[in-house]
Amino acid sequence: MCGIFGIVTKDDQPLGPILIEAAKRLTYRGYDSVGAATIRGEKIDLRKDVGRVDDVAAKYDFAEMTGSRGITQLRWATFGEPSQVNSQPHLDSDGDLVGAHNGNVVNNVELRQQFISEGLTVRSQNDGESCVHAVERYINKGYDFIDAIRLAYGDLAGDYAFVIGRVSDDKLYAIKKGSGLVVGLGEGFTCVSSDLPSILPLTRTIIRIQDGEIITLWAGRVELRSVKDGSVILRDPETVTETMDAVQKGGYPHFMLKEIHEQAQVAREVLHMLEGSSEVRTVLEKMRAARHLYFIGCGTSYHACLAGAVYFAQIAGRAAIPVLAPQFVPQYAPAVNHEDVGMFVSQSGETKDVLNALQIANAKGMTSFGLANVIGSTLTKATAGWLPLCCGYEISVPATKTFTNQVIAFLYMATRMAGHDTHQLEQIPELMEETIAAVAPQVEAIAAEINKWNDLYTLGYGTTYPIALEGALKLKEITYAHCEGMLSTEFKHGPLSAVSQGYPVIFVAGPEDVPLILSGINEVACRGGHAIAIGEEDARLRANANDVIFIPKSNPYINALLAVLPLQLLSYHMSVARGYDPDFPRNLSKTLTVD
Ligand code: AGP
Repeated sequence: MCGIFGIVTKDDQPLGPILIEAAKRLTYRGYDSVGAATIRGEKIDLRKDVGRVDDVAAKYDFAEMTGSRGITQLRWATFGEPSQVNSQPHLDSDGDLVGAHNGNVVNNVELRQQFISEGLTVRSQNDGESCVHAVERYINKGYDFIDAIRLAYGDLAGDYAFVIGRVSDDKLYAIKKGSGLVVGLGEGFTCVSSDLPSILPLTRTIIRIQDGEIITLWAGRVELRSVKDGSVILRDPETVTETMDAVQKGGYPHFMLKEIHEQAQVAREVLHMLEGSSEVRTVLEKMRAARHLYFIGCGTSYHACLAGAVYFAQIAGRAAIPVLAPQFVPQYAPAVNHEDVGMFVSQSGETKDVLNALQIANAKGMTSFGLANVIGSTLTKATAGWLPLCCGYEISVPATKTFTNQVIAFLYMATRMAGHDTHQLEQIPELMEETIAAVAPQVEAIAAEINKWNDLYTLGYGTTYPIALEGALKLKEITYAHCEGMLSTEFKHGPLSAVSQGYPVIFVAGPEDVPLILSGINEVACRGGHAIAIGEEDARLRANANDVIFIPKSNPYINALLAVLPLQLLSYHMSVARGYDPDFPRNLSKTLTVD
């Protein structure tokens, strides 16, 4: 969790504006607190507090900060409540070292006790401070900086990356263990960050850092060393060609709305990629031969797994077990072996719950594949092979375009496994565009109508069941209302008692399931509830539901994919109407690298 950025320049310079911009571009990694530190000669200027980048930067005038080295950090709280003292960066005991981390130091509590008993000044509960003291304790014993970091690495358990600097020096140091870290090389400066968005506006020449590597950054060069033996590692820089358009809002008020509208385009890209991929053939061969097939993910990615399992069964006649990653460990891992195949699904490729399950699956000899958006993420390196989601950056915390491309990838694989012509899927992007254009005004009106409710249900059946769950997750995530997604047929077994006058229940109706869905609609409508149906044009839906959101005609599989679009828009409009920022819902983070 969290995001770090550090920069080294030749001479003292106004670094404040660079740090503010870098912090803004890392906001998707955490936004409880933000801090910045610059080092100028003998002096460290440290400013930090709880709040969003714009507010904290304005309050403490980050823009005026100068130095030859700068560090900024975005925090998503794990160790220690969001507070000024727990915000990062942190100083060492006598204030001549400053550093910040992302990730989790899991032995933080024990380490803090050790530091206190060794006489170090511990000011916070935060594990980022432990990274600084872990280096400080060896500097105090006379070790040089690289060796102090190497020894600290041995003391700090968990997955993290951190950047650290000291006064009267011309360098920053960084280390990676399990969390992302990238170095940027520019004219007269070098920088290091958890991720590319903060680096690309400054330079496109980068080096991707691997676990167990220490980086020393000077203004004109960097040096990589192995933690293990301190030896120098030679790695050529690479040039990043991706555009930065995706990390800007492109005229939309929020990233979420932009990303909703990007879905058709990225659907084209993933279909194109899948058609030309040799990896798909390998994945399908292994899946065909597998004893058991598991689709594993969390949150939205798990809902894609559920959709994938329905597609594999209905289209290819192949059973697959969709499973929440943390439940895979106790429920299935003890029974898996080398004859089984797992598809691990994750936008970020860094979700700890998923990586935990993957590690155990690999240890049991299972063949593991990945479906991930972030190229170079841990998941992509720990699987036997992986397919990219081709979505570009997804900045908004609520996943939208990565969900639809996950579902498309499963639909494509099921279609190929069944030996059917995949060209029929080429209609998807255009149907997505038509759907958004057709439903947008009506969805906005319905959002206004039901927004007074803080409690609602989304129901689906068969192919639309995962869509109902995903719609409910989107509504919960960004409206803070309680919304439960469930199988439509289960509603009468208890939750129906919640229905009162005007109570909203949203039904997602697959074209072949309309008669069944109609029963549910009537059970709600006859009790005064507000039944809203999403489905293809159908006189029966029109006659029975209070509101109907019609989506274009396709087939039951593509229908499910299209049906999620109005639910994404509904949650977006309800969130905005409530005065929330859908891109950054409270308490959440885009990438969950914690257990
Ligand atoms: C989706 O809107 C959520 N932000 C969340 O459920 C997410 O899907 C989950 O944390 C898994 O993330 P991943 O796809 O990066 O593994």
